[in-house]
Amino acid sequence: MKRRRVVAGNWKMNLNSLEANDLVQDLLSLKHESARIILGVPFVYIASLARLTNGSNIEIAAQNCHHEQKGAYTGEISVEMLKSIGTDYVILGHSERREYFNEDDTLILQKMQLAHEAGLKVIYCCGEPLSVREAGSQNEFVQNQLAQSLLKLSAEEMKNTIVAYEPIWAIGTGKTATADQAQSMHQHIRQLISAQFGQEIADQSSILYGGSVKPANAEELFSKDDVDGGLVGGASLKAELFGPIIEANL
Ligand code: 13P
Repeated sequence: MKRRRVVAGNWKMNLNSLEANDLVQDLLSLKHESARIILGVPFVYIASLARLTNGSNIEIAAQNCHHEQKGAYTGEISVEMLKSIGTDYVILGHSERREYFNEDDTLILQKMQLAHEAGLKVIYCCGEPLSVREAGSQNEFVQNQLAQSLLKLSAEEMKNTIVAYEPIWAIGTGKTATADQAQSMHQHIRQLISAQFGQEIADQSSILYGGSVKPANAEELFSKDDVDGGLVGGASLKAELFGPIIEANL
């Protein structure tokens, strides 16, 4: 089985309801039926966008979920709620949640397992800060992240997980990892998945690159053997930018 090529957008905390609808209508009209597209949208738009994209090649992701099944957690959103309104994926382990909401690998693993239990698929993010890259220890850093979360999943859970490598120094900075830097880390991640789950699962796992992906650099990044697509922030907010990135991955 060939692994899936994917372009995912992470809208983060952007767009009002009208803008969200317009953007998805524009993406649907691009008619890239062979592309697999996932949109990580704010909770409040999931239900309507899941209806709008039903039957298309666009799947909808939440950007977070709570780590407990249910209960007295005012303001929080559970995996079951997400599943019941048509959510396909949940993005977990994003560096912004690690940094601003103190999410550590133990919590991320808990969320991943809960999401899988509810029948959601996961986009799992990892990646090193600038200081680690400058010290040249990015491989050990990411290996450590994976060892505490991703590599503790069951094989079945791993099959329903997409990995996104997002070097923190490249997120929202305009500074992209070179295609060779991305390839080298993706290869490292695939080897770690292989060591834990076997070559077949590793070969089938989609590993996306994230961090200042734009139309100008998408094609080169996506041309690398172990780069199966991208997780795109800023450039996913405009169809005229996201469209060419989708095309670069066809
Ligand atoms: P940018 O594409 O804006 O750098 O964001 C990347 C990202 O964090 C996607 O999750």
